[in-house]
Amino acid sequence: GRPLDLAGRKIVISAGGTREAIDPVRFIGNRSSGLQGYALARTAVARGAEVTLVAANTTLPDPAGAKVVRVESTAELREAVLEASAGADAVVMAAAVADFRPATRQDSKIKKTDGEPEPILLTKNPDILAELGERRRAARDAQAGAEAPGVIVGFAAETDDVLANGQAKLARKGCDLLVVNQVGEGLAFGTPDNAATVLVAGGEPVEVPFGPKEDLADVVWDLVAARIS
Ligand code: C5P
Repeated sequence: GRPLDLAGRKIVISAGGTREAIDPVRFIGNRSSGLQGYALARTAVARGAEVTLVAANTTLPDPAGAKVVRVESTAELREAVLEASAGADAVVMAAAVADFRPATRQDSKIKKTDGEPEPILLTKNPDILAELGERRRAARDAQAGAEAPGVIVGFAAETDDVLANGQAKLARKGCDLLVVNQVGEGLAFGTPDNAATVLVAGGEPVEVPFGPKEDLADVVWDLVAARIS
């Protein structure tokens, strides 16, 4: 059995992948299944937490005992995460959030034409994880900690220079833990297993060997629980 070390803790988890509308029927999306975020939600509930799962475009069954908020776009995910994270003990951003979205969403379906198609112009999405870090920093400066999450955890999918890129990202985004996955070649996306390195602000990295996504989730909760208390 798992320890009840998250009993009464308010925890927000984002899962899945955002979709950015091009027109009423098309979107830009990604291959995130939501499996890791759901594993985090199940294990957090098992350890006693009060979990809000913000699920972007997943087809997985709702985890028992969690509050599930369904979203589609990055804008919706941002709203839901920021609302749920006010006063939360921890926020884990496991969702694959689109870095860019189409600058305009066409009201009608884009028609096939004889000539070359119009290019789709992109614009930057807000970085929700960095915004959570900013909010916490501002709240600490104003000594009004209740408005910002206590512990902030990010995920990063890196293909090269995994550790160096991960450390830079941890610092840049102002999070406490950054779970760095190696992606590509059948790793991570859509598979039940995962291997990762958890980078710890001000601490040594923790290697999690290849295994079920629940195992990685439990390592994350061990580190989060230690940081909450
Ligand atoms: O910068 P990068 O996309 O690699 O960072 C990944 C981490 O940042 C994930 O935790 C993801 O959920 C989060 N993220 C975010 N908002 C974005 C892009 C990523 O919160 N616009």
